[in-house]
Formats: sequence, C-alpha cells, structure tokens
Amino acid sequence: MIGRLNHVGVAVPSIEAAKQTYRDLYGVPEDAITETRELAAQGVKFAFVNVANSQIELIEPLGEHSPIVKFLERNPSGGQHHVCFEVPDIYAARDEMIRRGATVLNEPRIGAHGTPIIFIHPKNSHGVLIELMETPKGAHT
Ligand code: CO
Repeated sequence: MIGRLNHVGVAVPSIEAAKQTYRDLYGVPEDAITETRELAAQGVKFAFVNVANSQIELIEPLGEHSPIVKFLERNPSGGQHHVCFEVPDIYAARDEMIRRGATVLNEPRIGAHGTPIIFIHPKNSHGVLIELMETPKGAHT
C-alpha cells in the first residue's frame, strides 16, 4: 500500500514566477521555499514549496527535449502534473505494480529528493500521473 503523500508536482513555465505567487498570494515564507536546482538527467529544473503537511514541487523544462515541454504546450500557464506517494522499497513497489497490471513508465531512477522514483501511467489512475518515491532514510522518525 502507498504511504505518505510526499508532494504534488506542478509544471510551470517559470519557477521564479511560481515562487512569487506562493510567496505573495499564499503567504508562504521565503525560507519555506527551496532554491531552484537542476535535474539534468530528467530534463527539469525544480524547487519545493513547503507547506504544513506536504510540499508543492515546481518543475520547469530544462532543455528542448524535456519531458514536460509537451505538457506545457497543452497547459501554457502551467498545471498540476503528478502526485507523489512514498513507498518503503522502490524495487518491491515496481514489481508489485507490474504484477497488478499497471504500466510502470521507467526503471527506478534518482528523483528530486535524492531517492529512487518510478512513474505510473495516468491511464491506471483516472488520468493522474502517479510518482512513487522511496522514503528517504531517516525521514518521518
Ligand atoms: Co515529483
């Protein structure tokens, strides 16, 4: 069974503009918003907006072959892109998801939190792209 909701992924054309919205419109303090980093292997820049019980992951394309370029063509001002749940063991989760008939979109790879992740096709979850991420060691203890 899936664990804690880790974050909601939101694709945006500009992370800096989106950070400003969370600061100015929603009152998120500056120190609750992380620096923007690059995940070159996945073709995205990202930053996290920390709220009381979860995080918003802002993702912006990095390079023209970024996997979120097409999403932003369909949603030019940005949009909700994926939902991420934690699992204790990503390889066990992958094997179990395949056994249950889900379409796993990638081999486990390191995600924005530094632990391995997989994505489950939206067709398996009523149109929602689901990310499963291995819980960081020592988290939530
Ligand atoms: Co994510």
